[in-house]
Amino acid sequence: MAGKATAVAPANIAFIKYWGVRTLDPLTPANPSISMTLRRCQTRTTVEHRQDRGPDEVLLRTEDGRLSPPPESFVEPVRRHVERIRSAAGCGGSFRVATENSFPAAAGLASSASGFTALSLAATRALGLALAPGELSRLACRSGSGSAARSALGGFVEWPAGEGDEELHAIELAPAEHWELRDVIALVDVGTKPVASVEGHRLARTSPYFQTRLGRLGARLGAVRQAIARRSLDDLGPVLEEEAIDLHLIAMSSRPPIFYWRPATLEVLDEVRRLRNGGLSAWATMDAGPNVHVICAPDAATRVAQRLADLPGVMSVIHDGVGQGPRVVSEHLF
Ligand code: DP6
Repeated sequence: MAGKATAVAPANIAFIKYWGVRTLDPLTPANPSISMTLRRCQTRTTVEHRQDRGPDEVLLRTEDGRLSPPPESFVEPVRRHVERIRSAAGCGGSFRVATENSFPAAAGLASSASGFTALSLAATRALGLALAPGELSRLACRSGSGSAARSALGGFVEWPAGEGDEELHAIELAPAEHWELRDVIALVDVGTKPVASVEGHRLARTSPYFQTRLGRLGARLGAVRQAIARRSLDDLGPVLEEEAIDLHLIAMSSRPPIFYWRPATLEVLDEVRRLRNGGLSAWATMDAGPNVHVICAPDAATRVAQRLADLPGVMSVIHDGVGQGPRVVSEHLF
């Protein structure tokens, strides 16, 4: 039977980063990670399953508003993932996939996390399957996007790093309602990043600082879990900034080195420090990209956003906050 389903899935921003793998296939991270699921940065994906065994079709909403065939670099991992789902479900047929992001893709805004979570949920629903959040998390990160494991849940989420063949999925540390944090995202460059995260994960161990960071992670993980439990931004902030700097320190000292920052990234980091010196609790983090996420309380978000928007290197600012996990919706893209 042919089926069609649409899912909306959130991006997430990591407080403790996933950076480096123990094994690439199956994907096992070198360390546990913790993130906050976002509310506004989302991917919507419609999947139709057809009986004919033609090629799978993939479409992406482009800037002109049309659904168009994206470049092969986008299509290929999508095809591999739907093939994985098709063979796990033991069915034939072909898929038609259309997807759109509410934010610039491939700019360190975890578009692949929200993208593969939305794709996993929509494709399994189109096949008539209902996955529990843990199963969805496990399936989404089999795409190769590890951070997708965390986009399968809302609120504050941990993706543990199990040993050996243990099957991994993310778990909820606290629901979205627990703590109304904001993420003010300063976009400084929305072009495709120079080096894909998968390459960064592979190279991470070549950095002399890789093991040093791992040695610090136990204490950091404990501090972040406790700061979330106590809703203490002043305890969370310094740790999430340290973590972001360490990710980029490792990237910049990998062989060959990877530079994700742009000059405007530093402008934003400076401004965040100035805001703090002025008494505001605002803390910066970056994923594998040049854009800066500033984590703050709701009553500080407008001030933070205005100050960042005034910086010459900032193209635009997205106001985001903690959000719910993915959901199935009735408004299809085709
Ligand atoms: C730097 O392998 O999940 O965002 O496919 O680019 O989303 P993408 O990357 P993925 O690794 C990204 C890791 C990170 C930190 C994090 O989100 O934990």
